[in-house]
Amino acid sequence: MSYVKFTWLFKHIFSVVSGNIFTPEGVTDVVNIAILGFGTVGSGVAEVMAENAQSIAHNAAEEIGVRYIVDIRDFPDSPFADKLIRDFDIVENDPEVRIVVETIGGVGKAYEFTKRALLAGKSVVTSNKELVAAHGHELLEIARRKNVNYLFEASVGGGIPIIRPITQCLTANEIDEIYGILNGTTNYILTRMITDGAPFEEILKDAQRLGYAEADPTADVEGYDAARKICILADLCFGRSVDPEKISVEGISGVTLEDVEYARRLGYKLKLLGRAYKLADGRITAYVAPHLISKTSLLSNVDGVMNGIVVHGNALGECMFYGAGAGKRPTASAVVADVIDAVKHLKARKYLGWEESEPGYLVDANDVPMRWYLRTGSGLEAIGRAFGDVRLISYPGDYPGAGPEEYAFATPSLTGRELEEKCAGMDIRSRFRIL
Ligand code: HSE
Repeated sequence: MSYVKFTWLFKHIFSVVSGNIFTPEGVTDVVNIAILGFGTVGSGVAEVMAENAQSIAHNAAEEIGVRYIVDIRDFPDSPFADKLIRDFDIVENDPEVRIVVETIGGVGKAYEFTKRALLAGKSVVTSNKELVAAHGHELLEIARRKNVNYLFEASVGGGIPIIRPITQCLTANEIDEIYGILNGTTNYILTRMITDGAPFEEILKDAQRLGYAEADPTADVEGYDAARKICILADLCFGRSVDPEKISVEGISGVTLEDVEYARRLGYKLKLLGRAYKLADGRITAYVAPHLISKTSLLSNVDGVMNGIVVHGNALGECMFYGAGAGKRPTASAVVADVIDAVKHLKARKYLGWEESEPGYLVDANDVPMRWYLRTGSGLEAIGRAFGDVRLISYPGDYPGAGPEEYAFATPSLTGRELEEKCAGMDIRSRFRIL
Protein backbone atom coordinates (compact mmCIF):
# COMPACT_ATOMS: atom_id res chain seq x y z
CA MET A 1 0.00 0.00 0.00
CA SER A 2 1.38 3.41 -0.94
CA TYR A 3 2.23 5.95 1.72
CA VAL A 4 -0.56 8.27 0.58
CA LYS A 5 -3.20 5.55 0.62
CA PHE A 6 -1.97 4.42 4.03
CA THR A 7 -2.14 7.98 5.40
CA TRP A 8 -5.63 8.41 3.98
CA LEU A 9 -6.86 5.10 5.45
CA PHE A 10 -5.29 5.83 8.83
CA LYS A 11 -6.88 9.28 8.98
CA HIS A 12 -10.30 7.96 8.08
CA ILE A 13 -10.19 5.20 10.68
CA PHE A 14 -8.83 7.64 13.25
CA SER A 15 -11.34 10.37 12.44
CA VAL A 16 -14.24 7.96 12.90
CA VAL A 17 -12.84 6.78 16.24
CA SER A 18 -11.79 10.20 17.53
CA GLY A 19 -14.41 12.51 16.07
CA ASN A 20 -12.56 13.79 13.01
CA ILE A 21 -9.71 15.81 14.47
CA PHE A 22 -7.84 16.10 11.14
CA THR A 23 -10.53 17.60 9.01
CA PRO A 24 -11.89 21.06 9.85
CA GLU A 25 -15.64 21.40 9.66
CA GLY A 26 -16.95 21.66 6.09
CA VAL A 27 -13.60 20.69 4.61
CA THR A 28 -13.01 17.46 2.73
CA ASP A 29 -9.96 15.34 3.29
CA VAL A 30 -8.32 16.44 0.05
CA VAL A 31 -6.63 19.82 0.36
CA ASN A 32 -8.23 21.86 -2.41
CA ILE A 33 -6.47 24.66 -4.20
CA ALA A 34 -7.54 27.21 -6.80
CA ILE A 35 -5.28 28.66 -9.48
CA LEU A 36 -5.90 32.30 -10.46
CA GLY A 37 -4.67 33.01 -13.99
CA PHE A 38 -4.15 30.30 -16.61
CA GLY A 39 -1.23 31.88 -18.49
CA THR A 40 2.30 30.49 -18.82
CA VAL A 41 2.91 29.93 -15.10
CA GLY A 42 -0.67 29.02 -14.07
CA SER A 43 -0.97 26.36 -16.78
CA GLY A 44 2.48 25.07 -15.81
CA VAL A 45 1.29 24.72 -12.21
CA ALA A 46 -1.77 22.71 -13.31
CA GLU A 47 0.43 20.49 -15.49
CA VAL A 48 3.03 19.80 -12.81
CA MET A 49 0.29 19.17 -10.20
CA ALA A 50 -1.30 16.57 -12.52
CA GLU A 51 1.93 15.00 -13.75
CA ASN A 52 3.55 14.60 -10.31
CA ALA A 53 0.33 14.07 -8.31
CA GLN A 54 1.64 10.94 -6.58
CA SER A 55 4.99 12.32 -5.45
CA ILE A 56 3.42 15.68 -4.53
CA ALA A 57 0.85 13.93 -2.31
CA HIS A 58 3.64 11.88 -0.78
CA ASN A 59 5.74 14.96 -0.08
CA ALA A 60 2.80 16.90 1.34
CA ALA A 61 1.47 13.84 3.23
CA GLU A 62 -1.94 14.94 1.91
CA GLU A 63 -3.77 14.63 -1.35
CA ILE A 64 -3.94 17.97 -3.11
CA GLY A 65 -6.68 18.69 -5.63
CA VAL A 66 -7.02 21.57 -8.08
CA ARG A 67 -10.67 22.50 -7.60
CA TYR A 68 -10.85 25.68 -9.72
CA ILE A 69 -8.85 27.56 -12.27
CA VAL A 70 -10.01 31.16 -12.59
CA ASP A 71 -9.50 33.01 -15.85
CA ILE A 72 -11.68 35.30 -17.95
CA ARG A 73 -10.49 33.58 -21.14
CA ASP A 74 -11.87 30.30 -22.56
CA PHE A 75 -9.63 27.27 -22.95
CA PRO A 76 -12.00 24.68 -24.50
CA ASP A 77 -9.18 22.38 -25.62
CA SER A 78 -7.33 22.34 -22.32
CA PRO A 79 -7.31 19.09 -20.35
CA PHE A 80 -8.25 21.31 -17.37
CA ALA A 81 -11.29 22.89 -19.13
CA ASP A 82 -13.67 21.36 -16.55
CA LYS A 83 -11.96 23.29 -13.73
CA LEU A 84 -12.14 26.69 -15.43
CA ILE A 85 -14.42 29.34 -13.94
CA ARG A 86 -14.55 33.10 -14.42
CA ASP A 87 -15.72 34.27 -11.02
CA PHE A 88 -13.26 34.68 -8.13
CA ASP A 89 -16.20 35.00 -5.67
CA ILE A 90 -16.73 31.24 -5.98
CA VAL A 91 -13.19 30.61 -4.75
CA GLU A 92 -13.46 33.22 -2.02
CA ASN A 93 -16.69 31.73 -0.67
CA ASP A 94 -15.70 28.08 -0.90
CA PRO A 95 -14.41 26.98 2.52
CA GLU A 96 -12.97 23.84 0.97
CA VAL A 97 -10.39 25.90 -0.94
CA ARG A 98 -7.55 26.27 1.53
CA ILE A 99 -4.81 27.53 -0.78
CA VAL A 100 -4.94 30.00 -3.65
CA VAL A 101 -2.21 30.13 -6.30
CA GLU A 102 -2.00 33.63 -7.76
CA THR A 103 -0.39 33.58 -11.20
CA ILE A 104 -2.25 36.53 -12.70
CA GLY A 105 0.70 38.91 -12.42
CA GLY A 106 0.70 42.69 -11.99
CA VAL A 107 -0.79 44.68 -9.14
CA GLY A 108 -4.42 45.08 -10.27
CA LYS A 109 -6.70 42.08 -9.89
CA ALA A 110 -3.82 40.08 -8.42
CA TYR A 111 -3.57 42.51 -5.47
CA GLU A 112 -7.33 42.57 -4.90
CA PHE A 113 -7.77 38.78 -5.09
CA THR A 114 -4.72 38.08 -2.93
CA LYS A 115 -6.03 40.36 -0.18
CA ARG A 116 -9.50 38.86 -0.38
CA ALA A 117 -8.15 35.30 -0.29
CA LEU A 118 -5.95 36.02 2.73
CA LEU A 119 -8.80 37.80 4.53
CA ALA A 120 -11.00 34.76 3.81
CA GLY A 121 -8.44 32.65 5.71
CA LYS A 122 -6.77 31.03 2.72
CA SER A 123 -3.02 30.76 2.22
CA VAL A 124 -1.73 32.32 -0.99
CA VAL A 125 1.21 31.18 -3.10
CA THR A 126 2.52 33.34 -5.93
CA SER A 127 5.16 33.93 -8.58
CA ASN A 128 4.16 37.61 -8.81
CA LYS A 129 7.30 39.62 -8.07
CA GLU A 130 5.65 42.93 -8.91
CA LEU A 131 3.02 42.41 -6.24
CA VAL A 132 5.43 41.08 -3.61
CA ALA A 133 7.88 43.93 -4.22
CA ALA A 134 5.13 46.59 -4.09
CA HIS A 135 2.82 45.23 -1.37
CA GLY A 136 4.65 42.31 0.28
CA HIS A 137 4.86 43.99 3.68
CA GLU A 138 1.11 44.63 3.80
CA LEU A 139 0.12 41.19 2.44
CA LEU A 140 2.43 39.37 4.85
CA GLU A 141 0.93 41.39 7.68
CA ILE A 142 -2.59 40.33 6.66
CA ALA A 143 -1.39 36.71 6.44
CA ARG A 144 0.07 37.03 9.95
CA ARG A 145 -3.21 38.38 11.35
CA LYS A 146 -5.24 35.62 9.69
CA ASN A 147 -2.72 32.93 10.69
CA VAL A 148 -2.22 31.80 7.10
CA ASN A 149 0.78 31.87 4.77
CA TYR A 150 1.79 34.08 1.88
CA LEU A 151 4.60 32.31 0.03
CA PHE A 152 6.52 33.53 -3.02
CA GLU A 153 9.53 31.33 -3.76
CA ALA A 154 8.90 31.62 -7.52
CA SER A 155 8.96 35.43 -7.45
CA VAL A 156 12.78 35.52 -7.63
CA GLY A 157 15.02 33.27 -9.71
CA GLY A 158 12.20 31.24 -11.33
CA GLY A 159 12.86 27.63 -10.30
CA ILE A 160 15.93 28.38 -8.17
CA PRO A 161 15.46 27.96 -4.41
CA ILE A 162 16.49 31.34 -2.98
CA ILE A 163 13.70 32.72 -0.74
CA ARG A 164 13.67 29.63 1.46
CA PRO A 165 17.49 29.45 1.76
CA ILE A 166 17.60 33.12 2.80
CA THR A 167 14.76 32.80 5.30
CA GLN A 168 15.73 29.40 6.68
CA CYS A 169 19.15 27.96 5.82
CA LEU A 170 21.14 31.19 6.07
CA THR A 171 19.47 32.75 9.11
CA ALA A 172 22.56 32.17 11.30
CA ASN A 173 24.34 34.78 9.18
CA GLU A 174 24.41 38.53 9.00
CA ILE A 175 24.00 38.90 5.26
CA ASP A 176 25.97 41.85 3.95
CA GLU A 177 25.54 41.50 0.20
CA ILE A 178 23.33 39.83 -2.39
CA TYR A 179 23.63 40.23 -6.14
CA GLY A 180 23.10 38.33 -9.31
CA ILE A 181 21.60 37.76 -12.71
CA LEU A 182 17.91 38.00 -11.90
CA ASN A 183 16.26 38.27 -15.29
CA GLY A 184 16.26 35.32 -17.69
CA THR A 185 15.08 37.28 -20.73
CA THR A 186 17.89 39.85 -20.68
CA ASN A 187 20.49 37.21 -19.90
CA TYR A 188 19.22 35.20 -22.86
CA ILE A 189 19.45 38.32 -25.07
CA LEU A 190 22.96 39.27 -23.89
CA THR A 191 24.19 35.68 -24.25
CA ARG A 192 22.92 35.42 -27.82
CA MET A 193 24.32 38.86 -28.67
CA ILE A 194 27.69 37.50 -27.57
CA THR A 195 27.49 34.03 -29.12
CA ASP A 196 25.46 34.67 -32.31
CA GLY A 197 25.77 38.42 -32.83
CA ALA A 198 22.03 38.14 -33.58
CA PRO A 199 19.84 41.28 -33.76
CA PHE A 200 18.17 42.33 -30.51
CA GLU A 201 14.55 42.26 -31.85
CA GLU A 202 14.91 38.73 -33.20
CA ILE A 203 16.33 37.40 -29.90
CA LEU A 204 13.58 39.14 -27.92
CA LYS A 205 10.92 37.47 -30.08
CA ASP A 206 12.49 34.07 -29.31
CA ALA A 207 12.45 34.87 -25.58
CA GLN A 208 8.74 35.72 -25.83
CA ARG A 209 8.00 32.53 -27.77
CA LEU A 210 9.83 30.49 -25.12
CA GLY A 211 7.67 32.03 -22.37
CA TYR A 212 10.55 33.88 -20.62
CA ALA A 213 9.52 37.48 -21.19
CA GLU A 214 6.95 39.49 -19.24
CA ALA A 215 3.62 40.39 -20.90
CA ASP A 216 5.23 43.77 -21.55
CA PRO A 217 8.91 42.93 -22.25
CA THR A 218 9.91 46.52 -21.45
CA ALA A 219 9.91 45.36 -17.83
CA ASP A 220 12.64 42.85 -18.71
CA VAL A 221 14.68 44.95 -21.12
CA GLU A 222 14.66 48.14 -19.03
CA GLY A 223 15.52 46.34 -15.79
CA TYR A 224 12.22 46.81 -13.87
CA ASP A 225 11.68 43.07 -13.44
CA ALA A 226 15.17 42.64 -11.98
CA ALA A 227 14.53 45.70 -9.78
CA ARG A 228 11.44 44.07 -8.23
CA LYS A 229 13.45 40.92 -7.58
CA ILE A 230 16.47 42.62 -5.98
CA CYS A 231 14.09 44.61 -3.76
CA ILE A 232 12.39 41.40 -2.54
CA LEU A 233 15.83 39.92 -1.80
CA ALA A 234 16.92 43.11 -0.01
CA ASP A 235 13.67 43.12 2.02
CA LEU A 236 14.39 39.59 3.20
CA CYS A 237 18.17 39.88 3.67
CA PHE A 238 18.22 43.23 5.44
CA GLY A 239 14.80 43.26 7.10
CA ARG A 240 13.31 46.50 5.74
CA SER A 241 11.19 47.34 2.75
CA VAL A 242 13.06 48.60 -0.31
CA ASP A 243 10.79 50.25 -2.87
CA PRO A 244 11.63 49.31 -6.50
CA GLU A 245 10.42 52.79 -7.54
CA LYS A 246 13.18 54.36 -5.41
CA ILE A 247 16.24 52.49 -6.63
CA SER A 248 18.43 53.29 -9.62
CA VAL A 249 17.47 51.05 -12.56
CA GLU A 250 19.18 50.73 -15.91
CA GLY A 251 18.38 48.01 -18.45
CA ILE A 252 20.26 46.58 -21.42
CA SER A 253 18.91 48.73 -24.24
CA GLY A 254 22.14 50.79 -24.23
CA VAL A 255 24.44 47.74 -24.58
CA THR A 256 26.00 47.49 -28.05
CA LEU A 257 27.99 44.76 -29.78
CA GLU A 258 31.02 47.07 -29.53
CA ASP A 259 30.68 47.09 -25.74
CA VAL A 260 30.43 43.30 -25.74
CA GLU A 261 33.67 43.13 -27.75
CA TYR A 262 35.54 45.66 -25.58
CA ALA A 263 34.46 43.82 -22.43
CA ARG A 264 35.80 40.60 -23.93
CA ARG A 265 39.19 42.23 -24.60
CA LEU A 266 39.39 43.35 -20.99
CA GLY A 267 38.66 39.76 -19.80
CA TYR A 268 35.09 40.61 -18.83
CA LYS A 269 31.53 39.76 -19.87
CA LEU A 270 28.57 42.12 -19.85
CA LYS A 271 25.73 41.00 -17.58
CA LEU A 272 22.68 42.74 -16.14
CA LEU A 273 22.96 42.53 -12.36
CA GLY A 274 20.67 43.39 -9.48
CA ARG A 275 22.73 44.20 -6.42
CA ALA A 276 22.02 45.15 -2.80
CA TYR A 277 24.53 45.54 -0.01
CA LYS A 278 25.13 47.02 3.40
CA LEU A 279 27.38 50.03 3.68
CA ALA A 280 29.82 50.45 6.58
CA ASP A 281 27.29 52.61 8.47
CA GLY A 282 24.53 49.95 8.27
CA ARG A 283 22.49 51.68 5.55
CA ILE A 284 21.96 49.80 2.34
CA THR A 285 22.13 50.50 -1.35
CA ALA A 286 20.32 48.62 -4.12
CA TYR A 287 20.28 49.03 -7.89
CA VAL A 288 20.04 47.28 -11.24
CA ALA A 289 22.53 47.96 -14.05
CA PRO A 290 24.62 46.24 -16.71
CA HIS A 291 28.08 45.36 -15.34
CA LEU A 292 31.34 44.14 -16.71
CA ILE A 293 32.12 41.05 -14.66
CA SER A 294 35.37 39.10 -14.76
CA LYS A 295 35.40 35.99 -16.95
CA THR A 296 36.92 34.12 -14.01
CA SER A 297 33.83 34.70 -11.82
CA LEU A 298 31.19 31.98 -11.54
CA LEU A 299 28.46 34.44 -12.54
CA SER A 300 30.11 35.10 -15.90
CA ASN A 301 29.26 31.52 -16.90
CA VAL A 302 25.57 31.97 -16.10
CA ASP A 303 24.27 32.09 -19.65
CA GLY A 304 21.01 31.91 -21.59
CA VAL A 305 17.85 31.94 -19.47
CA MET A 306 19.78 30.81 -16.38
CA ASN A 307 19.93 33.01 -13.31
CA GLY A 308 22.70 33.06 -10.71
CA ILE A 309 22.46 34.67 -7.30
CA VAL A 310 25.42 35.22 -4.96
CA VAL A 311 24.83 35.72 -1.24
CA HIS A 312 27.54 36.79 1.19
CA GLY A 313 27.02 35.97 4.86
CA ASN A 314 29.43 36.67 7.72
CA ALA A 315 29.55 33.03 8.81
CA LEU A 316 29.11 31.24 5.50
CA GLY A 317 31.17 33.48 3.25
CA GLU A 318 30.04 33.38 -0.36
CA CYS A 319 27.41 31.04 -1.73
CA MET A 320 25.91 30.90 -5.23
CA PHE A 321 22.50 29.67 -6.38
CA TYR A 322 22.13 28.71 -10.03
CA GLY A 323 19.30 27.46 -12.22
CA ALA A 324 16.53 28.22 -14.68
CA GLY A 325 15.35 31.76 -13.94
CA ALA A 326 12.25 31.83 -16.14
CA GLY A 327 9.96 29.57 -18.13
CA LYS A 328 6.76 27.67 -17.55
CA ARG A 329 7.92 24.51 -15.80
CA PRO A 330 10.89 25.84 -13.78
CA THR A 331 8.63 28.57 -12.35
CA ALA A 332 5.82 26.06 -11.74
CA SER A 333 8.33 23.88 -9.89
CA ALA A 334 8.86 26.63 -7.31
CA VAL A 335 5.13 27.49 -7.09
CA VAL A 336 4.11 23.87 -6.50
CA ALA A 337 6.81 23.45 -3.85
CA ASP A 338 5.24 26.43 -2.05
CA VAL A 339 1.81 24.78 -2.36
CA ILE A 340 3.24 21.68 -0.67
CA ASP A 341 4.80 23.83 2.04
CA ALA A 342 1.50 25.67 2.52
CA VAL A 343 -0.28 22.32 2.90
CA LYS A 344 2.25 21.27 5.52
CA HIS A 345 1.72 24.55 7.37
CA LEU A 346 -2.05 24.84 7.20
CA LYS A 347 -2.22 25.27 10.93
CA ALA A 348 1.13 26.93 11.58
CA ARG A 349 2.22 30.17 10.05
CA LYS A 350 5.74 30.29 8.67
CA TYR A 351 7.57 33.39 9.78
CA LEU A 352 8.26 35.56 6.79
CA GLY A 353 8.24 39.34 6.82
CA TRP A 354 10.07 42.63 7.05
CA GLU A 355 9.65 46.07 8.54
CA GLU A 356 8.62 49.24 6.76
CA SER A 357 11.47 51.36 5.39
CA GLU A 358 12.65 54.43 7.27
CA PRO A 359 14.07 57.74 6.06
CA GLY A 360 17.75 57.53 5.15
CA TYR A 361 17.81 53.72 5.10
CA LEU A 362 18.41 53.51 1.33
CA VAL A 363 21.48 55.18 -0.17
CA ASP A 364 21.35 56.15 -3.86
CA ALA A 365 23.68 53.83 -5.81
CA ASN A 366 25.04 56.91 -7.62
CA ASP A 367 26.54 58.05 -4.31
CA VAL A 368 28.54 54.86 -3.80
CA PRO A 369 31.98 54.60 -5.45
CA MET A 370 32.68 51.91 -8.08
CA ARG A 371 34.90 51.39 -11.12
CA TRP A 372 33.48 52.21 -14.55
CA TYR A 373 33.97 51.17 -18.14
CA LEU A 374 33.67 54.09 -20.57
CA ARG A 375 33.47 54.15 -24.37
CA THR A 376 34.13 57.58 -25.78
CA GLY A 377 34.60 59.43 -29.02
CA SER A 378 36.76 62.02 -27.23
CA GLY A 379 40.53 61.86 -27.75
CA LEU A 380 43.41 60.88 -25.46
CA GLU A 381 43.97 64.44 -24.32
CA ALA A 382 40.41 64.80 -22.99
CA ILE A 383 40.61 61.35 -21.36
CA GLY A 384 43.92 62.20 -19.69
CA ARG A 385 42.59 65.56 -18.45
CA ALA A 386 39.54 63.96 -16.85
CA PHE A 387 40.94 60.66 -15.59
CA GLY A 388 44.77 60.78 -15.62
CA ASP A 389 46.47 57.52 -16.56
CA VAL A 390 43.89 54.88 -17.54
CA ARG A 391 44.11 51.40 -18.98
CA LEU A 392 42.95 51.67 -22.61
CA ILE A 393 41.04 48.69 -23.98
CA SER A 394 40.74 49.86 -27.55
CA TYR A 395 42.33 52.24 -29.97
CA PRO A 396 40.93 54.15 -32.98
CA GLY A 397 40.21 51.86 -35.92
CA ASP A 398 41.21 48.88 -33.80
CA TYR A 399 37.84 47.19 -34.17
CA PRO A 400 35.56 47.47 -37.26
CA GLY A 401 32.64 48.98 -35.32
CA ALA A 402 34.88 51.29 -33.36
CA GLY A 403 34.86 54.22 -35.75
CA PRO A 404 37.80 56.43 -36.63
CA GLU A 405 38.20 57.86 -33.14
CA GLU A 406 36.96 55.73 -30.30
CA TYR A 407 38.53 54.64 -27.02
CA ALA A 408 37.27 52.35 -24.31
CA PHE A 409 38.86 52.26 -20.87
CA ALA A 410 38.32 51.48 -17.19
CA THR A 411 38.24 54.28 -14.59
CA PRO A 412 39.42 54.24 -10.98
CA SER A 413 36.71 54.02 -8.28
CA LEU A 414 34.26 56.96 -8.56
CA THR A 415 30.66 57.69 -7.58
CA GLY A 416 28.16 58.07 -10.43
CA ARG A 417 27.97 61.78 -9.69
CA GLU A 418 31.77 62.24 -9.75
CA LEU A 419 31.84 60.35 -13.05
CA GLU A 420 29.21 62.64 -14.52
CA GLU A 421 31.24 65.72 -13.56
CA LYS A 422 34.42 64.29 -15.08
CA CYS A 423 32.63 63.36 -18.28
CA ALA A 424 31.04 66.79 -18.77
CA GLY A 425 31.85 67.96 -22.30
CA MET A 426 33.14 64.52 -23.42
CA ASP A 427 31.48 62.39 -26.11
CA ILE A 428 30.48 59.39 -23.96
CA ARG A 429 28.96 56.49 -25.94
CA SER A 430 28.61 53.91 -23.17
CA ARG A 431 29.18 53.80 -19.45
CA PHE A 432 28.83 50.64 -17.35
CA ARG A 433 29.90 49.59 -13.87
CA ILE A 434 32.71 47.09 -13.33
CA LEU A 435 32.26 44.53 -10.53
N1 HSE B 1 10.41 37.73 -17.38
C1 HSE B 1 11.06 37.12 -16.27
C2 HSE B 1 12.49 36.80 -16.66
C3 HSE B 1 10.31 35.88 -15.89
O1 HSE B 1 12.80 36.84 -17.86
O2 HSE B 1 13.31 36.53 -15.78
C4 HSE B 1 10.76 35.24 -14.59
O3 HSE B 1 10.56 36.09 -13.51
